[in-house]
Amino acid sequence: MKIIRVKNSLEGGAIASRMIIDLIKEKGSATLGFATGSSPETTYAHLVEAYKAGEVSFADVRAVNLDEYVGLDGSHPQSYRYFMNEKLFSKIDVKRENTYLPNGIAEDLTAECERYNRLISTLSPIDIQLLGIGHNGHIGFNEPSESFIDGTHVVELSPSTIEANSRFFEAENDVPRRAITMGISQIMSAKSIILLAFGEGKSEILRAALTREITPHIPASILQKHENLTVIADREALAKFD
Ligand code: GLP
Repeated sequence: MKIIRVKNSLEGGAIASRMIIDLIKEKGSATLGFATGSSPETTYAHLVEAYKAGEVSFADVRAVNLDEYVGLDGSHPQSYRYFMNEKLFSKIDVKRENTYLPNGIAEDLTAECERYNRLISTLSPIDIQLLGIGHNGHIGFNEPSESFIDGTHVVELSPSTIEANSRFFEAENDVPRRAITMGISQIMSAKSIILLAFGEGKSEILRAALTREITPHIPASILQKHENLTVIADREALAKFD
């Protein structure tokens, strides 16, 4: 695991976006695994800047996201589809049909998970998977549980996740209780992974996930096994790292 200590999320985003841009330039195309939440926001802002400066084109990029809330369609401002469109897809030249998220309003959620599994098999391997980390160690929406779940699945969000994500909603009651998420094997099969963590609030979980035992009670701990993991974190998030 490579750890890059940065001053703040702006510098972290600049480094993560540079890794993505270099890959696209080198390959001419790429399959990118994207994440939502505040952690990747500066990465997306830098990607947009680089695109506007004519430095990179996303025309041959395929973008696949980790997760989506159940019950929110893409026009809902708190849906992850909306987030991705707003922060990135509508501001670069990626073809909309090459951007993929689970469909949170699918009538048959089991069939939707199967569709996403097939899609990921077709798109694989993901060249770079961007990740944030939840306060309880979740990646995507893989919540702490008794075992690591391999494929795309529907998950009941934990009370701490609902509370943490309520900051984006008018009331805690508005936060969806379920989500569809890519599974652990799908995340781990990415050729390289960038984990972003900023702020003191992530310090405990970052230490637990990356320096303690690998356990499904802390889903991000599985990342210790990945051969090409880059952690980009600020001093505050790394404060308890040993
Ligand atoms: C959400 C997302 C995760 C994200 C996590 C942390 O629950 N499903 O993919 O990593 O929140 O979010 P933040 O980066 O805002 O701390």
